[in-house]
Amino acid sequence: MAVLVSGESRTGIVGRMLFFICLMALIFSSSAAAGMRISRQKLEVQKHLKRLNKPAVKSIKSPDGDIIDCVHVAHQPAFDHPFLQNHTIQMRPSFHPLGLFDANKATANSRQSSNSNTQQWHLNGRCPEGTIPIRRTKKDDILRASSVKRFGRKNHRTIPQPRSADPGLTNEGGHQHAIAYVEGDKYYGAKATINVWEPKIQQPNEFSLSQIWILGGSFGQDLNSIEAGWQVSPDLYGDNNTRLFTYWTSDAYQATGCYNLLCSGFIQISNQIAMGASIFPVSGYSGSQYDISILVWKDPKQGNWWMQFGNDYVLGYWPAFLFSYLTDSASMIEWGGEVVNSEPDGAHTSTQMGSGHFPEEGFGKASYFRNIQVVDGSNNLKAPKGIGTFTEKSNCYDVQNGNNGDWGSYFYYGGPGKNPNCP
Ligand SMILES: *[C@@H]1O[C@H](CO)[C@@H](O)[C@H](O)[C@H]1NC(C)=O
Ligand SMILES: *[C@@H]1O[C@H](CO)[C@@H](O)[C@H](O)[C@H]1NC(C)=O
Repeated sequence: MAVLVSGESRTGIVGRMLFFICLMALIFSSSAAAGMRISRQKLEVQKHLKRLNKPAVKSIKSPDGDIIDCVHVAHQPAFDHPFLQNHTIQMRPSFHPLGLFDANKATANSRQSSNSNTQQWHLNGRCPEGTIPIRRTKKDDILRASSVKRFGRKNHRTIPQPRSADPGLTNEGGHQHAIAYVEGDKYYGAKATINVWEPKIQQPNEFSLSQIWILGGSFGQDLNSIEAGWQVSPDLYGDNNTRLFTYWTSDAYQATGCYNLLCSGFIQISNQIAMGASIFPVSGYSGSQYDISILVWKDPKQGNWWMQFGNDYVLGYWPAFLFSYLTDSASMIEWGGEVVNSEPDGAHTSTQMGSGHFPEEGFGKASYFRNIQVVDGSNNLKAPKGIGTFTEKSNCYDVQNGNNGDWGSYFYYGGPGKNPNCP
C-alpha cells in the first residue's frame, strides 16, 4: 500500500517534472518564434525603407517635420520596375491639351483671392536641376500600416460607383463619397481647380480626400484608375496636414499601384513639387480661400498620362504600359470627396469632408471644385456634358452642382459627417 502510494507519487513527480520541462520548452520556443518574427519584420521594414528612400544628392528639412530628399531623376523608385530598365525619360510632354481655361482671368473676375499654393519645404531650400524632391518615408510610417505590403496602398472598394443604387454595395468598406461624374464617352484627361481645407479626422485609420478619378474599364477586378488631389491621412503621413497626392492602380487596388512614389510606376520630372508634401496655406471658414489646379491628360503621341499642378508645374507621367483600359482612354471621370467611416462607437464618424460644411453654405464656407473640364478625342479641354452627382448619404456629406461664366462647371460638396440627421 505504502509502496504503491510512493510509486504513485514518484510517477507524479516525474510527470510534473516532464510537464514543467515541456512548459519551459514551449515558452522558450514560442518566445524565440516571436523574437524571430519581430526581427524578420524589422528586416522587412528596413528593406522596404531602402527600396523607397533612394540616395539623396541633398536633403531639406521642412518646417512641418518632413524630410525632402533630392534624388537624381534617374534614381527614382520608378526605375526599379523591370519594364523601365531601359526607359528613356521624357522630360516634357509632346502635347498639352488645347483650350486651357484661363485661370488668371477667372480669378480677376471673381470675388476670391485664389492665392497660389506652395509647399512648406520651399522655405528651407530647393532641389537642384536633374533631381526630384521625394518625401522621405520613416520607419514609423510603415509600422502604422497593417503590413509592410499594404503600406502606401488603398483598400479595395474605395471607388464611388454612382450607377449602383444599392447602398449595401457602395457602402461596403465604410467609404463615403460626394462626387460629380461623367461617363459614356471616351475621355483623354480631366482638370479642376479645388479649394484646399484641413478636414478633421476622428480616427487615425480614417482619411478625408478630395480628388479627380480617371477611370478605365468596368468596376470589376481589373479597374484602372489614376487619381490626384489633396488628402488628410494620419495613418499614411503621421499627422493631420493636408497633402498633395496621386494614386494609380490597374487592378482595382489589389496588387498594383500606390500613393505618390511609394512604388515604382509614376515617373517624376519636376524638381519643384514633392508628392505627399503638405500644401500651405489652406482655406479658412469665412476667410481667405486657397485653391490648387490639377490637370491629368494623355499624351496622344506617346500614350503616357501626364499630370500638371497649377499653371507652371508638370510633375511627370504614368507610362502607358502600367494600364490595360487606360492604354486607350478613360470611360469615366469623377471629381469630389471621399472619407472613411469606420463607425467608431457604432455611430457615424465625425470625420469631415472638404470644409466640413454642407454645399448650401456656398463660397467661403463650403468646399468646391470649379472649372471642371475633360479632354476630348481631339485633345481639347472642354466643359463636360451630362454631369451627374452622387452621394451615399446626403445627410452626412452632400454635393450640389452649378454653372456660371467665371467658374464654368462647378460644384460644392462636403459635410460634417455625424450630426443629428446623420447619427
Ligand atoms: C534592356 O537592355 C538590355 C541590353 O540591351 C537587354 O538585354 C534587356 O533585355 C533590356 N530590358 C528590357 C526590359 O527591355
Ligand atoms: C490629429 O487630430 C486628432 C483630432 O482630430 C487628434 O486627436 C490627433 O492628436 C491629431 N494628430 C496629430 C499627430 O496632430
